[in-house]
Amino acid sequence: MSDIKAKTHHGEMTIDQLAEIQPGMAALMKETGERYTNAYYAAKGGNWKMAAHQLNQLRAAFRTAKVTRPKYAEDLDAYDKEYLQPIFKAIHDQDWDGFEKAFRKGEEGSDVYHDKRGYPYVRYVLPKEAPSSLYMGPPEKFRREQKKEEG
Ligand code: HEM
Repeated sequence: MSDIKAKTHHGEMTIDQLAEIQPGMAALMKETGERYTNAYYAAKGGNWKMAAHQLNQLRAAFRTAKVTRPKYAEDLDAYDKEYLQPIFKAIHDQDWDGFEKAFRKGEEGSDVYHDKRGYPYVRYVLPKEAPSSLYMGPPEKFRREQKKEEG
C-alpha cells in the first residue's frame, strides 16, 4: 500500500483509495450499452460522424476497463477485433445494410462474453427509440428551432 496522498479542498485520500474508486465493469458496461445504442441510431439517421464518435467512446470505455479490470483485457481486445472493427468499416463505407448486420453480430458477441464471464442474465437489447438529447440526422440538415419571443 502506498503512502502517497491525493489532496482536494474536501480532504485527503491515499492514492490507493483513489485507484479503488475508478470505474469498474458495472459503470463501464452501462456506458458501453449506451454508446452502442447511440451508434446505431446515428448510423440509421445518416449521422455517420456521430456513429463513429459513439463507437470511439465505447472503445474509450474498453480502454479504461483494461486498466481498472485487467482480467478482461484479452476479451475486450478480442471483441474489438471480431465485432467492433466490422462496424467501423461499415461506418467508414457509409453502408447501412453492412452496419446493421455487423451491429446485430456485435449483440450476439456481447451475449458470448456475458455468458463466458458468468452473466448469462445480462442481455443488451436495442431500445426502440433513439435517445432524445442527440440529433441523429445528417449534420448539414440540422436546424436549431428559434423560439419566438412571446409578449
Ligand atoms: C469483451 C466484451 C465484454 C465483456 C468482457 C463484458 C463483461 C461484462 C460484465 C463483467 C458485466 C457485469 C458488470 C457488473 O455489474 O459488475 C457486464 C454488464 C453489462 N454489459 Fe458487458 N461485456 C462485454 C461486452 C458488452 C457489450 C458489447 C455491450 C453492449 C453492446 C455490453 C453491455 C452490457 C450491459 C448493458 C451490462 C449491464 C450494465 C448494468 O449494470 O447496467 N457488454 N458486461
